[in-house]
Amino acid sequence: MNLEQAQKLESKLLLSTYDRYPVLLHKGRGVHVYDHKGRKYLDFLSGIGVNALGYAHPMLTKTLAQQAKLLVHTSNLFYHEYQGRLAAALTKISGADRAFFTNSGTEAWEAALKLARAYAKENCPQSKDAKWRILALEHAFHGRTFGALATTHKEKYRAPFAPGVPGVEFVRFDDVEDLKRKFDGTVCAIGFEFVQGEGGIRPLSKAFVQAACELAARNGALLIADEIQSGLGRTGRWFAYQHYGVQPDLITVAKPLAGGLPLGALLASEKVSQCMHPGMHGTTFGGGPLACAVALQLLTVLEKQKMLKHVQKTGAYLLEKLQELREKYNEVRGVRGLGLMAGIELESADLAKAVFKQMLDGGVIVNRTDETVIRFLPPFIIKKKHVDHAVRQLDQALAKNTTGLAATAARRS
Ligand SMILES: Cc1ncc(COP(=O)(O)O)c(C=O)c1O
Repeated sequence: MNLEQAQKLESKLLLSTYDRYPVLLHKGRGVHVYDHKGRKYLDFLSGIGVNALGYAHPMLTKTLAQQAKLLVHTSNLFYHEYQGRLAAALTKISGADRAFFTNSGTEAWEAALKLARAYAKENCPQSKDAKWRILALEHAFHGRTFGALATTHKEKYRAPFAPGVPGVEFVRFDDVEDLKRKFDGTVCAIGFEFVQGEGGIRPLSKAFVQAACELAARNGALLIADEIQSGLGRTGRWFAYQHYGVQPDLITVAKPLAGGLPLGALLASEKVSQCMHPGMHGTTFGGGPLACAVALQLLTVLEKQKMLKHVQKTGAYLLEKLQELREKYNEVRGVRGLGLMAGIELESADLAKAVFKQMLDGGVIVNRTDETVIRFLPPFIIKKKHVDHAVRQLDQALAKNTTGLAATAARRS
């Protein structure tokens, strides 16, 4: 099948939910992915933050093949050996006590919201239905199912499906005063990404996180960390909240967890876990033996290969190189990131589109998010030479599409 055939077939048969790039991918090896004609791309997006160990990592493919021959699916009516072991590994690195496995990020976030409401009902019976408000942040992205959608900020995602799940209010990004205004005893949880991904790679300030923790504690509300994009090593620590020295009550993970197989998890403290009882929540596929076995192997490889240190080093290098471009081009408005989660904000959406396209044409995959931000979520295994290559392509794309004038000090302040 060629690209045109795939496009024709899909345009007739699929819901038109995606605006795909005109590339038909065929295989991947390491940090590279190849199209059906054998053209090689350096992947600085890794399937939107999923392929942390790149493509066809030998340890993952070995586990995958072995487990596929033994047991792929069991349902959650039976035990298999991997859920408990994976929960042990995840609770060890997160400081949480228990896990619930899902198939995706949005389902993990749904489970967190449900658990927050259930916890408030069980632990604050005097306020019964009153304590059910959930605070989320402007620019937040938590998924596409109804609960997650209600906490996702962009109007264009929510409006076509209104009315949404009630009880959600958005706090201005990183605005402590707005947070204080909206927080009271009717709030059962505040949830956010410590480093927003889809919203344009925006790390929260320590002051905001501190204020959110204090207000949550004072009002008997839970703190939910969405680590679906930022978690499991992406920022150079296991979880982004670990940069802030706080311990959330609920943590959601997904994307890189099972090396490309669909798997997510909600991690919860013991006190919150106690309000979930048999039958209250569940899933057919979540936490199957194949995905869990691969996830265990992924965590083992990350640990054995000291990948967090590597992410810290390469991430710092990437940010340094992006900063150099900020100095070079007027049209670069900002560089943000933590570890290998980085973004470069450009002057306009049109410029970001042109830069993205030229990078893709030049064989480097990135993406455009929040209209004007070029986002980098490379596999953890990239080396400095890959950063150099990607940044060179970005430099060329900026040179072609901008005036290239050096920035003035005044505009930078
Ligand atoms: C921070 C965050 N939360 C939730 C989600 C939803 O995850 P999924 O697409 O696996 O449902 C995403 C996906 O991009 C995400 O980045």
